[in-house]
Amino acid sequence: MAQIIDGKLIAENLKQNISKQVKQYLEQGLRKPGLSVILVGDDPASQIYVRNKSTACKEVGFESTIYRLDPNITKEDLLDLICKLNQDSAVDGILCQLPLPKHLPTREVLEAIDPAKDVDGFHPINSGRLFSGTESLLPCTAAGIIKMLKSINYQFVGKKALVIGRSNIVGKPTAILLLNEDCTVTIAHSKTRNLAELSRQADLLITSAGKEKFITPEFTNPEQVIIDVAINRNAENKVVGDVDFVRVEPLVKAITPVPGGVGPMTIAVLLENTLIAYRNHLEEAAT
Ligand code: GUN
Repeated sequence: MAQIIDGKLIAENLKQNISKQVKQYLEQGLRKPGLSVILVGDDPASQIYVRNKSTACKEVGFESTIYRLDPNITKEDLLDLICKLNQDSAVDGILCQLPLPKHLPTREVLEAIDPAKDVDGFHPINSGRLFSGTESLLPCTAAGIIKMLKSINYQFVGKKALVIGRSNIVGKPTAILLLNEDCTVTIAHSKTRNLAELSRQADLLITSAGKEKFITPEFTNPEQVIIDVAINRNAENKVVGDVDFVRVEPLVKAITPVPGGVGPMTIAVLLENTLIAYRNHLEEAAT
């Protein structure tokens, strides 16, 4: 039987800590940290993610505003809103939920966000800092994965890590953070050959393929730790990850559940990033 890594519990502890810090700021007469969330269109999954992010903000005492924008909004109008939020001194963090409708240029939109307010860590300034190992706002899912592993006292140094998925949101930043922890990292993707064999050799498997029951027993070894990042819907419309959990869980050392694994950690790190941006913002205002 594997150790189940309880992301929900770890995230809850992080949130309590954030909540305590917010209370202390308010007691000093300071304003609440503020997060603005932009949602373009009506993608059902994005609506749920945005609602969860906003609820979490309120739980820890942040001010949170959701901008629900028409799917046909022009690039100019969206950039205008981002520009206003960049200039708004009560806004510490700005998040534009992805994916954007096809007519909007994702890169240009993300690059319009002030890097100091980029709580998703997607601006090239922040990814450049991540790449060079200097302090930055880190992409939330990647940072959440590292926090989860640290919370079970995972010994990273020299471990063979396999990251399945090369997205800018999850795969690439996770691989860099694992490298910064002294893992030996392989990034696999849809063109990778002999994936099951590669995976069998991995001490640590991080999967974000987005395919139900993709990770089967032949991908595993008894010492393996698996972090399942994917959020898929199965035939019964239930949320499941990439791992064939029932068959794989008894065969590995530790594993995250879906739901209740990486998802809550992503939100907790978003709150932490917002608090960091808030603190930096206050310090900048004081100088
Ligand atoms: N879409 C899927 N994951 C994310 C995320 O972490 N941030 C944003 N902004 N959009 C996403």
